[in-house]
Amino acid sequence: MKNIIITGGAGFIGSHVVRLFVNKYPDYHIINVDKLTYAGNLANLKDIEDKPNYTFVKADICDFETIMGIFKKYNVDGVIHLAAESHVDRSIKDPFTFAQTNVMGTLSMLQAAKLYWETLPEKWEGKRFYHISTDEVYGALEMTDPEGIEPPFTTKASSGKHHLAYGSKFFTEDLKYQPHSPYSAAKASSDHFVRAFHDTYGMPTIVTNCSNNYGPYQFPEKLIPLFINNIRHRKPLPVYGKGENVRDWLFVEDHARAIDLIFHKGTIAETYNIGGFNEWKNIDIIKVVINTVDRILGRAEGEDMNLITYVTDRAGHDMRYAIDSTKLQKELGWEPSLQFEEGIEKTVRWYLDNQAWMDNITSGEYEKYYESMYANR
Ligand code: NAD
Ligand code: DAU
Repeated sequence: MKNIIITGGAGFIGSHVVRLFVNKYPDYHIINVDKLTYAGNLANLKDIEDKPNYTFVKADICDFETIMGIFKKYNVDGVIHLAAESHVDRSIKDPFTFAQTNVMGTLSMLQAAKLYWETLPEKWEGKRFYHISTDEVYGALEMTDPEGIEPPFTTKASSGKHHLAYGSKFFTEDLKYQPHSPYSAAKASSDHFVRAFHDTYGMPTIVTNCSNNYGPYQFPEKLIPLFINNIRHRKPLPVYGKGENVRDWLFVEDHARAIDLIFHKGTIAETYNIGGFNEWKNIDIIKVVINTVDRILGRAEGEDMNLITYVTDRAGHDMRYAIDSTKLQKELGWEPSLQFEEGIEKTVRWYLDNQAWMDNITSGEYEKYYESMYANR
């Protein structure tokens, strides 16, 4: 039996990783350590919460003594560390919380793992500390408009090439870190601490840097779920700046599959970039989302384009992110499973079919819900 801590398992990506591991590995014990901040939601895990190989522990990763106690109590062999403050806009308003959780919280996890694993006769043997990071640590790429190509763009998931690139450079693993937002600065710092624990103490660590994820269970302050919900309720869609910024989108279950593969087969001390070769300008993806919601709701396609409302740009808004995930594809054989059109269709349908999940969050009932869920366990 392997005892694995997944931190941030009640959040968006973490819940997909917990679900995958609990279902795929019945002989592992998955310990979901989550503080349940505004972004943590046990409703994301309803389908697996009663499984015998799953335990939820409500804890703050910054609380070193408690984390140390969890390592000892569950004889932890591995960590998949996702817990973080994750929203760039919040980091601009409140950088302290980001430094506290993302830097000090990661340090607390690393130190607890080190102190616990060092006491064992086998020490690092069979152990792994896997840190989930972001492509935003690399900064922003320059942008050029490819001529003569009009959206929508179809990404061939298996082509291994960017179907369309808004520039000649991509984020590769050897690029120097140039974070711009307080969020990415804090994530960059945490990545450095993880690598320092390998280089200084020999801890078996791995870091991955992933592009923008989309899919079910994403907190509706992020672009895609926020806009799906606003279109449904015919509320304005706040597009930052001119909507020209480019993001590289990956379906969340493909990220979870990559995490599973890398946790088991990745090389210690390596970094892997994870991305879907799927660059989109914000305004183009927004139009696809509007058309998809309208069609599924039986409205005339494009009827809700008038909801697009250009607003003041995000401070320091990074222009373009584009991941080169060739290393992961070549070394471990991973590639995205879904074409973007399929992923967006699945995603929009999920939010429209799960309006109660969305309403629990947006109506303020959400906090009461998870408190009572926890009290009942
Ligand atoms: P999220 O905001 O949806 O979830 C974060 C989770 O961490 C929540 O469940 C929250 O309760 C928990 N958490 C926060 N502070 C905590 C603390 N102090 N102690 C314990 N738990 C705490 O985030 P997400 O989008 O699922 O991102 C997960 C990870 O993946 C983050 O590390 C993020 O930087 C990284 N990442 C996200 C994306 C993306 O597109 N969402 C892309 C690349 C990397
Ligand atoms: O690249 C990976 C990162 O992707 C992750 O590390 C972050 O945790 C995750 O939140 C995401 O960051 P972004 O800032 O790219 O995601 P967000 O959904 O906030 O915004 C996507 C783009 O849409 C970005 O260019 C800003 C723009 N935007 C966003 C919102 C919320 C708008 O135009 N309007 C909005 O209301």
